[in-house]
Amino acid sequence: MRVNRISAILALVPSILADIVEPSSPKRGLCYVEGEDPADDKTWDGSESDLTWYYNYQAMPTDAIDSKLQFVPMLWGADSSNDNADATSFYDTVKGLIDSGREIQYVLGFNEPDGCTDGGSCVDPSVAASEWIDKIEPLKNLDLQLGAPAVTGSPRGLQWLQEFYTACDGGCTTDFLPIHWYGNFEGMASFMGQVNATYQNMTMWMTEFGFPGQDLETSQTFFNQSISYLDRQDYVTHYSWFGAFRSDVSNVGPNSALLTEKGELTDMGAYYLGEPAEGNIPSSATDRAIFAGWSIFVSAALFWSFA
Ligand SMILES: *[C@@H]1O[C@H](CO)[C@@H](O)[C@H](O)[C@H]1NC(C)=O
Ligand SMILES: *[C@@H]1O[C@H](CO)[C@@H](O)[C@H](O)[C@H]1NC(C)=O
Ligand SMILES: *[C@@H]1O[C@H](CO)[C@@H](O)[C@H](O)[C@H]1NC(C)=O
Repeated sequence: MRVNRISAILALVPSILADIVEPSSPKRGLCYVEGEDPADDKTWDGSESDLTWYYNYQAMPTDAIDSKLQFVPMLWGADSSNDNADATSFYDTVKGLIDSGREIQYVLGFNEPDGCTDGGSCVDPSVAASEWIDKIEPLKNLDLQLGAPAVTGSPRGLQWLQEFYTACDGGCTTDFLPIHWYGNFEGMASFMGQVNATYQNMTMWMTEFGFPGQDLETSQTFFNQSISYLDRQDYVTHYSWFGAFRSDVSNVGPNSALLTEKGELTDMGAYYLGEPAEGNIPSSATDRAIFAGWSIFVSAALFWSFA
C-alpha cells in the first residue's frame, strides 16, 4: 500500500513541475503588435519585466518599447511592393542600425510565406530562395545569425520549407529555425519533435504560439504547459507568445491575450512578465457589446421609470 502511494505521488511530480511558469527566462521575448492604445506599450518596454528581446514584423524598431529589449529585425515578405517599405534595402536598414550603435545579433526572414491570408506573406519557395540570397544572405558579412523563413505550423509549412531549401541549393545560410504553433499542447510537442528531427543542425525559436478560441482555464493550462516545455528544451533558444494585445481585439480568442479589454495584465500576462497575477478576466468584443447593450437598456429603463 505504502509503496503504491509513493509511486502515485512520484507519478504526479512531472505534471506538477510541467505547470510552473518561471517568473523569467532568458528565452522569453515579445511578439509586438501595435495596440489601439499607445499606453499599452509601456507594459512591454522592459522596465518592469524580464523580457529579453522582441520583434515587430518589421526591419525598424518600435521606439515606444525599445528601452531594454534586444530588437530582432525581420524581412516580412519578398515583394517590395508590400507594406514593408524596407524590403528592397533590408541590408542597408540593418547595417544602419548596427552602425548607429544598436546591438543586433539576429534577423528573421519571411513571415508565414506558405500562407496567403491571416498575416502570411505568400511567397513562392523559389522566389523566397532567390530573395534570400539577394537580401538576407549578405547579412552574414555583419556576423549576424539568420532565422529561416517562419512557416505555419502545418504539413503545408514543412513542405514549403523543404522546397525552399531545395531552391536555395546550398546558398541560404539559416542559423536557426523559427516556427509557429496554433493548437493543443500535445500537437505542439509532436510538431516540435518532427521539426527537430528534420532539422537537427538548427536551434529553434517559437515566434508565435497559442491555443486559440479556448475557455480561460484551458488557455491558462496550455500557456503554462507550453512555456515550461519550451524552457526545458535545450534546442529552443527563444520564444514569444501570441499575443501581446487586448482581449477585445484578439484574433486568437480573448483568453489568449496578455491584456484585458481595458489594458490590464491578464493572469497570463502577469506570469509572462513575472509580476503578481491579479485575477483580471479578459473579455471579448462580443462580451463588451452585450455589456454595453445591457447598460443602455438599464439606463433607459431607469430613465423611463423616473421620467
Ligand atoms: C500557471 O503558472 C502560474 C505561475 O507558476 C501558477 O501560479 C498558476 O497556478 C498556473 N496555472 C495553471 C492553470 O496551471
Ligand atoms: C541545416 O540543414 C538543412 C537541411 O538539411 C540545410 O539546408 C541547412 O543549410 C543546414 N544549416 C546549417 C546552418 O548547417
Ligand atoms: C532534438 O535534436 C537533437 C539532435 O540535434 C536531439 O539530441 C534531441 O534529443 C532532439 N530533441 C527532441 C525533443 O526531439
